[in-house]
Amino acid sequence: MRKIVFATGNAGKIREINAIMADTGMEVVSMKDAGISTDVEENGSTYEENALIKARAVASVTGDIVMADDSGLEIDYLNKEPGVYSARYLGEDTSYHIKNAELLRRLEGVPEEQRTARFVCAIAAVLPDGRELTVRAAIEGRIGYEEKGMNGFGYDPIFYVPEFQKTTAELTEAEKNEVSHRGKALRLMKEELKRYEDTTCQ
Ligand code: IMP
Repeated sequence: MRKIVFATGNAGKIREINAIMADTGMEVVSMKDAGISTDVEENGSTYEENALIKARAVASVTGDIVMADDSGLEIDYLNKEPGVYSARYLGEDTSYHIKNAELLRRLEGVPEEQRTARFVCAIAAVLPDGRELTVRAAIEGRIGYEEKGMNGFGYDPIFYVPEFQKTTAELTEAEKNEVSHRGKALRLMKEELKRYEDTTCQ
C-alpha cells in the first residue's frame, strides 16, 4: 500500500484525511507515526508557500509522498485578516475565546452584507520524483454576532455558513468535512494524486 506522510501532529486531521483517501488504497500517517520530527518556521506569505515549506522539510528526510496543509480565516471587512496569521493572531497561546471576541468587537456595527468571510486551505504535496503539487479550496460564509456551537476548533464558533444556517462549530464533524475548505482541498489533492499514480504505475 502506498504511504503518504502528512506533515502534522494533529490526530484529528489524520483521521479526516484517511476517511477521504479511503478509496485510493493509500494510507496516510502522521510525521510521528513515520518517526519524523521537524520544526519548520512557517514564514511564507501565502497558504501555498507555507504548505510547501512544511512538505519540503519532511520530504527531505523520507522517500514517501509527503503532504502538508496550511489554512486560515479571511474576513473581507478586515482586509482579509487574520489570513495566513490565523494561528498567530493576538499570539499563538491566546485562547480562541479571546481571539473570537476581539474579531467580533472589530466588526461591531458592521452590517450583515459586509461580514463576508471564508476559510481557505492550501495543500501541498512533494512526490518521490521531486514533483510538487498544490491545490487550494475555500468555504464562504459570514462572521456571526456571537460565538455559537461547541464542535470544531479555532474560529468555528463565529463562522456562520448560510446554507446550513449554522456556524461550523454547530456542524457535526462529517457535515463539516463535506463542505469545509480542508475537505474540499483534500478531495482536489486526491484527484491530483490519482493522476500521478496512474502515470507512474503504467
Ligand atoms: P492550520 O494551518 O490548519 O494549522 O490552520 C491555521 C489556523 O487557521 C488555525 O490555527 C485556526 O486558527 C484557523 N483555522 C483553520 N482551519 C480552521 C477551521 O476549520 N476552523 C476554525 N479555524 C480554522
